[in-house]
Amino acid sequence: MGVLISGTGSNMKALVAASRAADSIFEIACVVSNKADAAGITWAKELGVATQIISHRDYPSREAFDAALNDYMQAQHLDAIACAGFMRVMTPVLVAPWAGKILNIHPSLLPLYKGLHTHERAIAAGEKEAGCTVHLVTAELDDGPILAQARVPVLAGDTPESLAARVLLEEHKLYPKALSDFLSR
Ligand code: GAR
Repeated sequence: MGVLISGTGSNMKALVAASRAADSIFEIACVVSNKADAAGITWAKELGVATQIISHRDYPSREAFDAALNDYMQAQHLDAIACAGFMRVMTPVLVAPWAGKILNIHPSLLPLYKGLHTHERAIAAGEKEAGCTVHLVTAELDDGPILAQARVPVLAGDTPESLAARVLLEEHKLYPKALSDFLSR
C-alpha cells in the first residue's frame, strides 16, 4: 500500500499500526504528502516508513500534479493506495490508472455531506447521528462505491471539534478493517 496524506496523519498511523500486526495482510510501502510540513510525515519517519513530499505547488495544474503522483506511485509497485486525510481533488490522470484501487476515508455518512466542514454541517442540520465512510475513489468527489461505515451519536452541546474527535476514534478502527476486507475480497 501507498498512503497519501496532507496533515496530521492519525489515520495513516492507524494503518501503519495495523500493518504491523502479526496477522496483517498488507504492508505500507510509502507515505506521500502534498505538504512538506504535514505532521504525519514526521510521524511516518519516526515509524520507519519511507516518505515522499510531492507538493501540488510545484505543478502548473491538477493534472500535472496527479501525473507526478502517479509516476511516483507506479515506481513503488503498489497494489493499492489509501488516502488518509489527503485534501486534494483527484483528476482522471491519477484515478484512471488506479481505477478500483484507491480508497479514501471521509468524515461523514456518505452520501451525506460530501466535501468539507462535514461535522459543522451535520450539527447545523440537527443530525442525531454522524460517522465516517471508507469508499473507493472515482473522479467524482466523495462519490465512489461505499466499502464500510461507522456511526456515532451527535450529542447535545457537540461542537464540530467534539464531534470530529468522536468520529476520528471510529475512523482509526474502521479504516484498517475496511482495507483488510477490501484486499482479501
Ligand atoms: C480525517 O477525519 C479524515 O476523515 C478527513 O480528514 C481527517 C484527517 O485526519 N478526510 C477528509 O476530510 C477527506 N476529504 P488525519 O490526518 O489525522 O488522519
